[in-house]
Amino acid sequence: MPVLVVVGAQWGDEGKGKVTDLLCEQAEVVVRYQGGNNAGHTVENLRGKFALHLVPSGIFNPNVLSVIGNGVVIDPTVLRGEIDGLEGRGVNMRGLKIAGKAHLIMPWHIMLDHVQEARLGKGKIGTTGRGIGPCYADKAARQGVRMQDIIDPAGFRQKVMDTMAAKAEVLAKAYDQDVSHLKEECERYIEAAESLRPYIEDTALLIWNSLREGKSVLLEGAQGTLLDLDHGTYPYVTSSNPVAGYASVGSGIGPTHLSDIWGITKAYTTRVGEGPFPTELTDATGDRLREVGNEFGTTTGRPRRCGWLDLVALRYAARINGFTGLCITKLDVLDSFDTLKVCTKYKWNDKVFDELPPAQHIFSQVEPIYEELPGWKSDITGARSVKDLPDETIDYLNFIVKNVQVPISLISVGPKREEHIKVPHPYAERSQGAQSGYGGY
Ligand code: IMP
Repeated sequence: MPVLVVVGAQWGDEGKGKVTDLLCEQAEVVVRYQGGNNAGHTVENLRGKFALHLVPSGIFNPNVLSVIGNGVVIDPTVLRGEIDGLEGRGVNMRGLKIAGKAHLIMPWHIMLDHVQEARLGKGKIGTTGRGIGPCYADKAARQGVRMQDIIDPAGFRQKVMDTMAAKAEVLAKAYDQDVSHLKEECERYIEAAESLRPYIEDTALLIWNSLREGKSVLLEGAQGTLLDLDHGTYPYVTSSNPVAGYASVGSGIGPTHLSDIWGITKAYTTRVGEGPFPTELTDATGDRLREVGNEFGTTTGRPRRCGWLDLVALRYAARINGFTGLCITKLDVLDSFDTLKVCTKYKWNDKVFDELPPAQHIFSQVEPIYEELPGWKSDITGARSVKDLPDETIDYLNFIVKNVQVPISLISVGPKREEHIKVPHPYAERSQGAQSGYGGY
């Protein structure tokens, strides 16, 4: 029974939305397993253009079960707004289910996110300011408010007000914040949260039952491997675990059920927020990637930092997640470049690294060692099969496969839904390390 995990292989924004949207045609259950409304992707379909932050992409098919798993943190006002927006445009929400074990982002989490960032000053993380870190911190500290608490309205209200009183004290005394509006804000959150009651379920059991019925399940990761709390560029990371191993924890199904793990990577690299980024280009080439690739955040609108593809980091992501397939996105963004650089190793003082260095302070100082490949200087957006691609493009893809030792399953050659290539049999004859292709799902 296929359970496919889709994971960001870089620092997020790899174009997972488009890939999951395409896969939703085949999946019968789609699950978000971590993160919150720090994520965001745009889905374009026959109904128009939609910006989703919390609702899984499966929602456009009413027969698909769209699950917000226990590993997700939910801002109830944001989710309410997203549901209203979708319903207002005729999308049926029948398939939406929310894990009772998922934690709620409350107004104090958002305040804490902002004041903690302000206190860090120059050393700030560059968070999305959505309260993600403080909410996960409360979860770990066993001080969180959960979706299932809503089922007991009086108990829920009491819990929110008690927690608010404790947090208000910290915000006022430790951070000198005006907390006079906090109670009113909490009322707004309580109202939004209570309106979500009909969607609360034991989602782990629902997924389990779907598996027993032989249904296909898609586990949809947010952010990316290098933003992972354990395996990313700590402390410049998010506060959840986007890696494939957490897909099991954050959805409530055992790891033995995971059958395929696809890593999504752009044909180059981007990052938002602070933190090390060895292949970053702060010159005109970086500006060109940003402009051609329209690299501005869906959630915050921030310009993304841009750079060449980093194969050391991609190999690391393949190892940490156990990728069985790669999806290369935004390949067309490279159409007009004369030559393309790809980082294959790092150097630091007199040392050369094939793998990510063992300590962050080294990673933040490494310099990329590049190999240069010829560009293809032609428009590839019309390609629908590997054989439609110029030789230089195929060489670029083969270079990636050879270095990462994971076959390519899907290639995105333009922003539109149909602008992609499914790779039925990874072009194994032309690449090494090929195991299974798109047809495996
Ligand atoms: P937080 O998740 O809001 O706490 O932000 C922590 C770091 O993760 C910051 O560098 C953010 O820019 C980054 N981040 C969070 N969500 C995303 C995302 O969906 N795409 C890219 N970066 C993200």
